[in-house]
Amino acid sequence: MIGAGSAGIAALKTLRDRGLDAVAVEAADRLGGRWVNKDPELGPVAYRTLHSNTSRDALAYADFPAPRHLPVFPSAVQVGEYCEHYVDAFGLRDRIQLGERVVTTTRKPGGGWTVETTNGTREVGALVVATGPFGKPRLPEPALPGLSSFGGEVLHVHDYQGPSQLKGKRVVVVGVGTSAVDLACDAAEHADVALHSMRRGAWFLPEILFGRPADRYRPPVPLSWKARRALFARAAAAQLGPLATYGIAHPGHGYGEVHPLRSGRLLSHLAHGNVATRPALAGYTANGVEYVDGRSDDADMVLFCTGWLVEHPFLPEELRGDGAGPPLLARIFHPDAPDLAFAGLIDAGTVAMPLAEAQGRVIADHLCGDYHPVPVSERADQVALEEAISRERYPAARRVRLQVDPVDYPVALEKERRAGHLRARAAGHTLPV
Ligand SMILES: Cc1cc2nc3c(=O)[nH]c(=O)nc-3n(C[C@H](O)[C@H](O)[C@H](O)COP(=O)(O)OP(=O)(O)OC[C@H]3O[C@@H](n4cnc5c(N)ncnc54)[C@H](O)[C@@H]3O)c2cc1C
Ligand SMILES: NC(=O)c1ccc[n+]([C@@H]2O[C@H](COP(=O)([O-])OP(=O)(O)OC[C@H]3O[C@@H](n4cnc5c(N)ncnc54)[C@H](OP(=O)(O)O)[C@@H]3O)[C@@H](O)[C@H]2O)c1
Repeated sequence: MIGAGSAGIAALKTLRDRGLDAVAVEAADRLGGRWVNKDPELGPVAYRTLHSNTSRDALAYADFPAPRHLPVFPSAVQVGEYCEHYVDAFGLRDRIQLGERVVTTTRKPGGGWTVETTNGTREVGALVVATGPFGKPRLPEPALPGLSSFGGEVLHVHDYQGPSQLKGKRVVVVGVGTSAVDLACDAAEHADVALHSMRRGAWFLPEILFGRPADRYRPPVPLSWKARRALFARAAAAQLGPLATYGIAHPGHGYGEVHPLRSGRLLSHLAHGNVATRPALAGYTANGVEYVDGRSDDADMVLFCTGWLVEHPFLPEELRGDGAGPPLLARIFHPDAPDLAFAGLIDAGTVAMPLAEAQGRVIADHLCGDYHPVPVSERADQVALEEAISRERYPAARRVRLQVDPVDYPVALEKERRAGHLRARAAGHTLPV
């Protein structure tokens, strides 16, 4: 296992539960990944104000309920502590090697891998990559005109550690994903001037919908994803009213065509005038920024929350993705390498941990010979089909390959697991390596 973030430890447990000799190699000196990281060299930093946008019970591991004393939306520190308790409760600590980074991996001709790490060489039968879906910062490419003349600071959320960086400054936050929403709120609360530049609008879902965490609603009868989406669109509209109330432009796509943003906090700040929206940036001036509508603002800091590149530089080149992640079967298995699986390489808009556990169960079955993916001759078609389904559901998303529905994905995965059991039985439970 490469990585001991919240997904890696869940997958590690499922492998250990099946008696597999699994170890996790973690570059940081702490487990918990994105929830605890303080070092930009290692990936996105858990800024001081970071809280989960997934509710306590929705993010909890299936066999380790979140403690009742946690708030509904725990802080990153609390999620990190929960991960530590999980590892201790299931005796996983001595299976995690901290402070060891995987540098390169080589697949042996007959199967199995040689893994070069900062501590030496490891020979392993199979690799599970759990290095997280959001790694390398993505900035506007090419850089916007005037950058060299701009006298202020330019930062990506990757390097943002907390509100002290904003104090006394006029700040422009760029982008309208969850990071941008969090940072626009921090700017509203801590900067001298807070501006939020969006190249398109976005749909929102309040974290608390009519008195309950929105991610805890389940319709009393099973509904199709289209019907569920329509229901949430109506509920959000009823609670929030039109986007124009907050100065947000129409996103140009339908509700849910990319995961809606879960923030009542930003909308409240917009309604109170603590932050103001602006259109897309056109470039920099010596003292600030210009927008595509010709307006300009003075600014001391431009804070890009413009997303991430999915990269696995330690994998052999032919097995890497293209900045959007490799194409995978069931969002887990590499179609060209049966001994290479991924845990947590998904964007469900919410609830990553139980999904990583579900993925771990399928990976464990596979490594024990109890699950076989579709035959080699069908894999390219299967990957294309899964991507087409995502594209149909999330036409407005850039990370189409990562998008999954938090309700439907585990159901589809369980169905695929059962189909894979039958394939394995028919093949005599042969092992992948
Ligand atoms: C700013 C931000 C906020 C987020 N907030 C939420 C949220 O509120 N709710 C939610 O559900 N999701 C949130 N997410 C998504 C979040 O990334 C996932 O939910 C979850 O943390 C991913 O867990 P992971 O274990 O897959 O990855 P990570 O937490 O990123 O862990 C990956 C681990 O792999 C290690 N690693 C990487 N490369 C190597 C290597 N070569 N060798 C060894 N180790 C390596 C890293 O050090 C890290 O510890 C957020 C993401 C970002 C960027
Ligand atoms: N508190 C939390 O729970 C929390 C906090 C942060 C992140 N997260 C999670 O982490 C993941 C990543 O979120 P993220 O917000 O960091 O990234 P993201 O979802 O990829 O959002 C990036 C944003 O930047 C915009 N953008 C990209 N390139 C741009 C450019 N050149 N100019 C202007 N805008 C540009 C995108 O707009 P387009 O859509 O138009 O491309 C999008 O609005 C998500 O799953 C999110 O839920 C959670």
